[in-house]
Amino acid sequence: MQKEKWWKSTVIYQIYPRSFCDSNGDGIGDLQGIVSKLDYLETLGINAIWICPVCRSPQADNGYDVSDYQDIDPMFGNLEDMETLIREAKKRDIRIVMDLVLNHSSDEHRWFVEAKKSKDNPYHDYYVWRDGVEGAPPNDLKAAFGGSAWEWVPELGQYYLHQFAVKQPDLNWDNPTLRRELYDMINFWIVKGVGGFLLDVIDLIAKDPDNGVTFNGPHLQDYLKELSKETFQRADLVSVGEAWGATPELAKLYSNPDGSELSMVFQFEHIVLDQIEGKEKWDLAPVPFLKLKEVFKRWQKELFGQGWNSLFWDNHDLPRIVSRWGDDGAYRVESAKMLAILLHGMQGTPYIYQGEELGMTNIKLSLEDYQDIETLGMYKERIEAGYDKDEIMRSIYAKSRDNARTPMQWSDAENAGFSTVTPWMKVNPNYKEINAESQVGDVKSVFHCYQKLIACRKEYPVFLDGEFELLCEEDEAVFAYTRTDESTQLLVVCNFYGETVKNPVEKPNDAATLLVCSYEDAGEWETLRPYEARMYLYSL
Ligand code: NOJ
Ligand code: CA
Repeated sequence: MQKEKWWKSTVIYQIYPRSFCDSNGDGIGDLQGIVSKLDYLETLGINAIWICPVCRSPQADNGYDVSDYQDIDPMFGNLEDMETLIREAKKRDIRIVMDLVLNHSSDEHRWFVEAKKSKDNPYHDYYVWRDGVEGAPPNDLKAAFGGSAWEWVPELGQYYLHQFAVKQPDLNWDNPTLRRELYDMINFWIVKGVGGFLLDVIDLIAKDPDNGVTFNGPHLQDYLKELSKETFQRADLVSVGEAWGATPELAKLYSNPDGSELSMVFQFEHIVLDQIEGKEKWDLAPVPFLKLKEVFKRWQKELFGQGWNSLFWDNHDLPRIVSRWGDDGAYRVESAKMLAILLHGMQGTPYIYQGEELGMTNIKLSLEDYQDIETLGMYKERIEAGYDKDEIMRSIYAKSRDNARTPMQWSDAENAGFSTVTPWMKVNPNYKEINAESQVGDVKSVFHCYQKLIACRKEYPVFLDGEFELLCEEDEAVFAYTRTDESTQLLVVCNFYGETVKNPVEKPNDAATLLVCSYEDAGEWETLRPYEARMYLYSL
């Protein structure tokens, strides 16, 4: 049998560097801070770290606006710190996965500064320009962070496209010289020894804005194939494509097992279910449970043997899952464990977002304390549109990206042990109760549950290649499934809600081993307590 790729059997830990650990007392997390926590991550058991952007940036969108792709932002350290991180991580068998922002640069990138100078500047065509129509933008495309996606440059008499903030002009992938520059830049990091890349909004790079096409546009697959051939395929790297608009069909192309495009897709179909259909994420609705099961089932089945998926609940753009679909009150520990067990039994590469392994929760701040450009943009738009302030705040509490960006809770010391000074972003006041120091070594902790799940994935091949089967599809409270290979079966049974329910699943044979559960022990088979989850393994 062909040896499977390393990234199929690893668990990836995601770090938002600003909020992870501050080593030099300026209130902002940094690369040396990450180095200082590698032992913690080794204890957890992960073998790769995805770090959100650390390249030089004016930080209009916290690093997703890059002004120099081949340098580290001084806020985070310097190139030497990055080399230290790569080296120190390697000693612990951990690879560093960089976040690559290839759809847009900062407007302060030297390419854009040049591009703005004149229409015949060689860099002009690195970006997407259009003449206006009678003094108005070419069309009514909207930017993700509010307002028009077109920005007027008076010196030039043209508009440029920005799908995100005004300070994030879209790059023009139809220009071959730009593409070459990007590949050279990626190879610079490959030579430095990174383990791979997370490709920010990669399905947006090819577009046809005149016809309203902003993702999965013309030549996308050609560009991905070229990118892969010129960069990732030269080494044993992981490449992860963030694609909000992916369907299983598209995902099979992105993650084609022949390796011609990317290693895996990072898609959001399961995670966007709790919003009013056809509306924005801020328009809140309860998660439709049967639909959630259907979505997971479809992805598990369709990609089986034909592609590879990422498994995640949380990231730096999403609220904390325990507050979202669990219970961050009385059943915080049980529900955080249940969500972990539910996800980590599936096929794909699991991601753990910093603090998720502690069951960190959402936060409620006063408006002045929010920092996120998307949150603030939405607030302004909705106030102007006449929304009620309390309603807007309810949306922010539930969905703001800042929920995930509060400093990591290391201990019950001041500033949660994150920094010796007041951090750039408010610490969640619950850090005295929820922190790493109190959980590491405690077998009842959420941390311990994640540690167990990671260890199991390393030990039992059924996690890698077992075939997925959803059980009791119509059950309104229980999410249960099996994974089966030639000799073994894994059974996962989860009560998704806070009431005790009847267990609808048939009992496995008595020789079944209970690998993990969300309570101290498995209770009687017939009932599932609130947020009770159990994972069993047995031979066939
Ligand atoms: C997706 C990133 O995860 C998000 O944080 C960022 O704002 C946008 N892409 C734009 O780069
Ligand atoms: Ca710092």
